Amino acid sequence: MVRHLYVHIPFCPKVCPYCSFYKEASDRNKTQAFLDAVLAEAEMESGGLQPWTIFFGGGTPSALSTTQLQYLICGLHERMDFSQVREFTLEMNPATVSLEKAKALLALGVNRVSMGVQSWNEELLKTLGRVHSGPQARRSYHILREAGVPNVNLDLIFGIPGQTHEQWLDSIRQTLALEPDHISAYCLTYEEDTEFFERFRRGEFAPETERDAAFFETAMDAFEAAGYGHYEISNYAKPERECLHNLGYWRGSDYAGLGPSAVSTRNGWRRKNVADTEAYTRRVLDGQDRFETLERLDTESSRLEKLSLGLRTREGISPDLLDATKLEKLVAHGLARLSNGSVSLSREGRLLADQIATELL
Ligand SMILES: C[S@@+](CC[C@H](N)C(=O)[O-])C[C@H]1O[C@@H](n2cnc3c(N)ncnc32)[C@H](O)[C@@H]1O
Ligand code: SF4
Repeated sequence: MVRHLYVHIPFCPKVCPYCSFYKEASDRNKTQAFLDAVLAEAEMESGGLQPWTIFFGGGTPSALSTTQLQYLICGLHERMDFSQVREFTLEMNPATVSLEKAKALLALGVNRVSMGVQSWNEELLKTLGRVHSGPQARRSYHILREAGVPNVNLDLIFGIPGQTHEQWLDSIRQTLALEPDHISAYCLTYEEDTEFFERFRRGEFAPETERDAAFFETAMDAFEAAGYGHYEISNYAKPERECLHNLGYWRGSDYAGLGPSAVSTRNGWRRKNVADTEAYTRRVLDGQDRFETLERLDTESSRLEKLSLGLRTREGISPDLLDATKLEKLVAHGLARLSNGSVSLSREGRLLADQIATELL
């Protein structure tokens, strides 16, 4: 039985110059057909699917209107069994939050909101090309709480061009002052096919590896001191507030993905939907094949994936996934530890997580 459902909503109020997720600026003319395609795809995928977790990601799911969200979520309800859903997350951009929408989402069963704050500094928000200000993000957070959203994650980005240590510390402090249940702190990556990548290539932005490692250490210290467990390289949670949906991915569970660019992993097969909203919509509604790629996951690729994802988590991986000599070396260098039958990275190891994964693969 598949226990995790992902739905990709590819619309954003404005496209950010650093982001490589599949998305496009919102276009009212395309939305209704897109929603119908997702529901048609849900119907095709519903056999053997009884979700414990649902994640609406993007793009920006909250770019849909309240009526469109109601149409989509009620439509999914009619097509699959929601009785065992424990966590239902929806990603929101602070510019698209309203009390009416938040209350409607709660009534539809959403019990977790993940909001992209990125930074509380106006200058850095401008650098990132965000559509919202710091005060607007704070207002949106309070609206979510006023509506009664019980579980809120805030996304932060560090390592932004020109960001100082003081600015990062200030973003951390302002985030902690709101007491979210969960914090995701991502180091900015220069993703291919983004405006930031081009500027990086032209030399307008330079790599600042040491600064970013120091920012990462500051985040670990501050969030852990405030009672947030560091349960994955980029993720911190209050006790019992870890994201169950993402834990499912990191543990190698099967999942179903709906929408353009969404990936499904079921029964040893991985399929990726075409990353083009119009093509996706047309193909699904015309009953044609919607996949961009389809691959069989052999034992070796499953092992490598479990290793690279699991090693980034606090719970770690089974030592069987690792070559014994490599494991001994990691432990001897103080980069990993073996306890209760699982291997996890030490604090020093977490600082070098990407290099360690590259060496092990
Ligand atoms: C789909 S977005 C979240 C919801 C909404 N679209 C928004 O931006 O507010 C997922 C998160 O990925 C992170 N992200 C996107 N591109 C990134 C990049 N190049 N480097 C680091 N983090 C990135 C951001 O923190 C962002 O909030
Ligand atoms: S960061 Fe969020 S709002 Fe910005 S383009 Fe990416 S998905 Fe859209």
